[in-house]
Amino acid sequence: MPPKIITMSNQPKIILGIESSCDETACAICLKENNQIKLLSSIVASSQSIHIKYGGVVPEQAAREQVKSIIPVITEALDQANLKLAKIDAIAITQGPGLIGSLLVGVETAKTLSLIWNKPLIPVNHLIGHFYANWIDKDPSQQPKFSFLGLLVSGGHSDLVLFKAHGKYDYLGGTRDDAAGECFDKCARILNLPYPGGPQISKLAASGESTRFKLPRPMMRSNDLDFSFSGLKTAVLNLVDSTQISDKDLPDICAAIETAIIDSLVNKVVLAAKKYNIEQLVVAGGVAANSKLRSSLEREIAKVNPAIKIFIPSPILCTDNAAMIAAAGFFTEPVKDPLQVEANPSLSLLR
Ligand code: KG4
Ligand code: ZN
Repeated sequence: MPPKIITMSNQPKIILGIESSCDETACAICLKENNQIKLLSSIVASSQSIHIKYGGVVPEQAAREQVKSIIPVITEALDQANLKLAKIDAIAITQGPGLIGSLLVGVETAKTLSLIWNKPLIPVNHLIGHFYANWIDKDPSQQPKFSFLGLLVSGGHSDLVLFKAHGKYDYLGGTRDDAAGECFDKCARILNLPYPGGPQISKLAASGESTRFKLPRPMMRSNDLDFSFSGLKTAVLNLVDSTQISDKDLPDICAAIETAIIDSLVNKVVLAAKKYNIEQLVVAGGVAANSKLRSSLEREIAKVNPAIKIFIPSPILCTDNAAMIAAAGFFTEPVKDPLQVEANPSLSLLR
């Protein structure tokens, strides 16, 4: 059978985005008008509650939940936007990275919708997608302008990137082992706190004293733009093994963990800001929802240059959602043949 070629006649105005890379099944609809991206609807179904008892995401379970949720989530997003699929100009889909079982559900659903409804299909790298949360519901004067320094801090990735234009960037550095979010999650697991660990640690840390327990900040003096978080996780494990820890110590331990992770991140952002003489910093990913990271970046970047503008999405758009995928779709080329799009669990920012 010859491939079905679907072309985009005009710039899309309405994009339906689908995100299914891990334990969230999400669909959102965005409208682009006068260079502004408006969010018409955004639905996120999470299977987090199922994974809580295992202390992390169980891939097989996550994929099964994706299958159950994908059609209801798409239907709800259309209903909430008061639109029929026929009115959509294109479909944007997370191609990767992520869990293969979860990704396949979204990618195959998007391909099917694209072929049946004759809608162009736009594959989006989830990591790039996170950055586009910063374009949503922003007046053009409030949107990031190229070039800018990008910091991605999610459950699986911690990367520094110099963005030069849509789709054009230089990779500056990233984690050599665990990601910042992964470190939050693994430390929480050591402390018997529920998954995902970031919000739990952050909540307890709010009433803690960060200097009582001493934790390492690896690679602070390395002159590169890489991070390392696995040593911090090991130090927390050793601390818990060697000290009689009770519940009343948890706020102080959590404050020490949170501060160590934030110090490591902010230190390299400051280094990159100076090295590349940046005018804008754009932050993305689940860990960007952390209020101490936000305030710490603002304080330290202002010391480098008070004129540097910082963009961080609202907390709800930091964690996985489909609005960022739909928004990224406005700046990404569709494929000609939707059947050629394949889920790619190992997509990265490195090229
Ligand atoms: O971007 P995201 O939703 O999923 C991935 O693409 O990985 O990020 C999830 C990560 C988890 O590790 C979670 O613990 C972390 O983001 N996270 C936070 C906060 N909210 C979510 N970490 C620190 N503080 C938070 N408030
Ligand atoms: Zn993500």
